[in-house]
Amino acid sequence: MYSREMMESMKRLEETRAHRRKEKLPLLSPEEKKDILSKFHPDYRPDSTRELKVGANAREMIYHEYADLLEAESPLDPDEFTLTDLDYDVDVLVIGAGGAGCAAALTAFEKGVKVLIATKLRMGDANTMMAQGGIQAADKPNDSPPKHYVDVVGGGGFHNDPSLVRALVMDAPPVIAWLERLGVMFDKEKDGTMVTIHGGGTSRKRMHSCRDYSGGEIMKTLRDEVLNRGIEVIEFSPSIELLTDGGSVTGAVLYNLETEEYIIVRAKTVILATGGSGRLHIRDFPTTNHYGATADGIVMAYRAGAKLSFMDTVQYHPTGAAFPEQIVGLLITEKMRSLGAQLVNSQGNRFIYELETRDVEAAAIIRECSERGLGVATPSGMQGVWLDSPLIEEIHGEGTIKKRVPAMYRQYSRFDIDMAKVPILVYPTQHYQNGGIVISDRAETGVPNLYAAGETSGGVHGRNRLMGNSLLDILVFGRRAGENAAAKSGGIKSGKLTLDHVKKYHAALEKAKIKDIRQSPMVLPDYRRERTKARHIGIFDGGLV
Ligand code: FUM
Repeated sequence: MYSREMMESMKRLEETRAHRRKEKLPLLSPEEKKDILSKFHPDYRPDSTRELKVGANAREMIYHEYADLLEAESPLDPDEFTLTDLDYDVDVLVIGAGGAGCAAALTAFEKGVKVLIATKLRMGDANTMMAQGGIQAADKPNDSPPKHYVDVVGGGGFHNDPSLVRALVMDAPPVIAWLERLGVMFDKEKDGTMVTIHGGGTSRKRMHSCRDYSGGEIMKTLRDEVLNRGIEVIEFSPSIELLTDGGSVTGAVLYNLETEEYIIVRAKTVILATGGSGRLHIRDFPTTNHYGATADGIVMAYRAGAKLSFMDTVQYHPTGAAFPEQIVGLLITEKMRSLGAQLVNSQGNRFIYELETRDVEAAAIIRECSERGLGVATPSGMQGVWLDSPLIEEIHGEGTIKKRVPAMYRQYSRFDIDMAKVPILVYPTQHYQNGGIVISDRAETGVPNLYAAGETSGGVHGRNRLMGNSLLDILVFGRRAGENAAAKSGGIKSGKLTLDHVKKYHAALEKAKIKDIRQSPMVLPDYRRERTKARHIGIFDGGLV
């Protein structure tokens, strides 16, 4: 299975292990960080972005892949689409049923209002379910929310929205307590205190985990809670457009993927919790993300007039799987590096301290494989560097990998790779949407009655998120969105349902003379090759019948 080059490189890695184990690499200076980012991080490549032509962020430089979705028409023709038959009439509509959506729905429901969740796939089919490493909270005696705050803004390049960071770190300890009350089984020491570890860029050990199933454990718990409380959920029905009265949001149009029918929902307030955008495969990177991560929330919010931020920055997780081929891009949790696994080049040498922030770490791996030519090639032509996983067993004792990162272990066992004995090959992979819809610390967007929470929002993490602050973000702002949307719905009447904002947006697109007009939201990624698409195989167009 391994090429000869890989085997030889692995041998060099083994030979240097004893020396490396004692080696101390310094953190990079701010100047060194700036230098490596500007030269090797994809965010800083001039061909990554272009000027957006329409909407609230017009004239800003954003990633091409986001611009393609924003400079696009609605699938609904506002002059033709009829909005007379109402299917649901609720106080709070939550769009998305990952961690942020479920947290929002539960919190709104507790306020006694009528809540409906609509989701593209099934409840819990979301990036939350796939999160591995853990959730940050400053709840140990040597830590504090202000220390957490400093780490978050340091990681974000000091670009973060201070009010959002404040909310994030202050709500963190109560969120952990809430999760425990709901039944989340965190890793504990024998005396009952939480096991906490470092992540990249953290000054204290504050990562709480459920082995490497942290997101799965949290998501299952929230999903059960939604079901137990009897909150109504519509599955396999993505939202494809918001409805407005011309200014304020008044509901949404859903599309039932099974029956292919539209569903009209009137809602006094709407919460977007649609997640991120890994499935856009920005700059052709593979992704750690869920199948439904196609940036739908930012598209709908933008058409309704919301402002976006940080759309010129994307998080590439430093350690995506680079081998074997079947798992390219899947997440290799940062927890591996927290536990002592080292990054090693083809010659058996370390080249970066392993707990730098993710942007720096990813840039260092890209440099190693490109400029320095010290990557390891795979039989299918990928490049990567080694993550020396057996070192974890040397540091913490035999059996640690199976105990602390069992999901990782199993993922590789399927391919007869025992990561407790041999290193694994890694390369950066698209992981997180740093930017998104601008929100206040009450999770309000700039559009009346529209709220947003989780990865679809932007600002809290600045230009780079730290590990474990995403699971935290979805719960902090999910809960805040739920609470504030419920409160607002109590004081307003249901509004008129129109697509006037879409009409206006289409007119702006026409005025901007955008060529090759597309449709968005994307809803599902399309992996068919051009050749396959060109054949038009389908039951109604002469392909199969
Ligand atoms: O590496 C990880 O386990 C990822 C965690 C995160 O993105 O927060």
